Amino acid sequence: MGMEEGIKDNASSAPNPRHTNQSRSTLLPMRGLQVFLMFFVLVLGISVVSMHMIKYLNIQTLAPSALISSYDEKATLESFIKPPLSAWHFMNDSELLWRASMEPGRLEYPFKRVPKMAFMFLTKGPLPFAPLWERFFKGHEGFYSVYVHALPNYRSGFPSSSVFYERQIPSQPVAWGEMSMCDAERRLLANALLDISNEWFVLLSEACIPIRGFSFVYNYVSRSRYSFMGSVDEDGPYGRGRYSYAMGPEVHLSQWRKGSQWFEINRGLALEIVEDMVYYHKFKEFCRPPCYVDEHYFPTMLSIGNSYSLANRTLTWTDWSRGGAHPATFSKADITERFLKKLTRGRGCFYNDQQTQICYLFARKFAPSALGPLLKLAPKVLGF
Ligand SMILES: *[C@@H]1O[C@H](CO)[C@@H](O)[C@H](O)[C@H]1NC(C)=O
Ligand SMILES: *[C@@H]1O[C@H](CO)[C@@H](O)[C@H](O)[C@H]1NC(C)=O
Repeated sequence: MGMEEGIKDNASSAPNPRHTNQSRSTLLPMRGLQVFLMFFVLVLGISVVSMHMIKYLNIQTLAPSALISSYDEKATLESFIKPPLSAWHFMNDSELLWRASMEPGRLEYPFKRVPKMAFMFLTKGPLPFAPLWERFFKGHEGFYSVYVHALPNYRSGFPSSSVFYERQIPSQPVAWGEMSMCDAERRLLANALLDISNEWFVLLSEACIPIRGFSFVYNYVSRSRYSFMGSVDEDGPYGRGRYSYAMGPEVHLSQWRKGSQWFEINRGLALEIVEDMVYYHKFKEFCRPPCYVDEHYFPTMLSIGNSYSLANRTLTWTDWSRGGAHPATFSKADITERFLKKLTRGRGCFYNDQQTQICYLFARKFAPSALGPLLKLAPKVLGF
């Protein structure tokens, strides 16, 4: 949008100098004629040169460029494999989900497919930790893609050198704890599925940071037998207490699950989510606050059909120890070497059915003021 406004500004200010030139030249008719002739010769020259250029470069200026590119896209395999540079498109949600549900049926790719990790940022707008993420991604081009879901009218000003440049997807307003939140997550997944090379899908917020280097994260996720979706059968008012018998017969009480909103799943599960038309309506209708649908819909749905592919834990560290409805937020004063080391060493969990101390790859929530100390300590403590 910034660019368009800039062009408009130029256009409105441009005619003024020409006007003043013309009115002055009418005072001297001979000079006016000279100027006109010079202008005529110049225009003639430009058009002759540009006609040659067009021939030489074989540019068909008369045909709409969109038509040419869509024709070219269909003509080569590359256009199916190579995603457009910008994440923006002109499909509405139903068109997008439908398009994203298309998958190759053949298991062998007729090209070298390097599986990528899709980093999907769900934010109101700003990404205060962008500089930290930039550093995290540096040198790993071709192994990741980035998608940003912000408020519909938000415009970010990332330079073309940024990993966030033109990575914003068409979005809708989001209300925390309501179905519009899951809609946004499905929108992110669907957009990321459009790139055939994306194999793993991580959901992050603007308050999330990476706590391991990129290669470590990539290896940890790509070598895992399971997808990291938190999914537990919890008793009490915040677990089974949120179940409604109206969810049956599709969802039984014993199938009801709860898990962190922040997940990492593989392509197969991402497809299950964008394709779902069975559970979506049940959850939309019968899981409303104080049933927070983003904590139940995906964990329940996936554990019904795909429980064997779930690790049942999240990769995103969160501190709930302070109690209440929201986790702790860490700011500048909290960021010490000791604190970061504590984050990277978990209390123990399972990885490929083996006990491990490395349970988390990401952490939240962090306040923007934490950026400075994080950038300073990351090379030493986090490894990037
Ligand atoms: C998307 O556009 C199509 C065609 O105009 C329309 O039929 C459909 O209802 C739209 N879907 C949404 C979610 O707006
Ligand atoms: C995750 O939980 C499901 C039950 O919901 C279980 O079938 C599955 O084996 C669990 N996954 C792991 C890795 O233990």
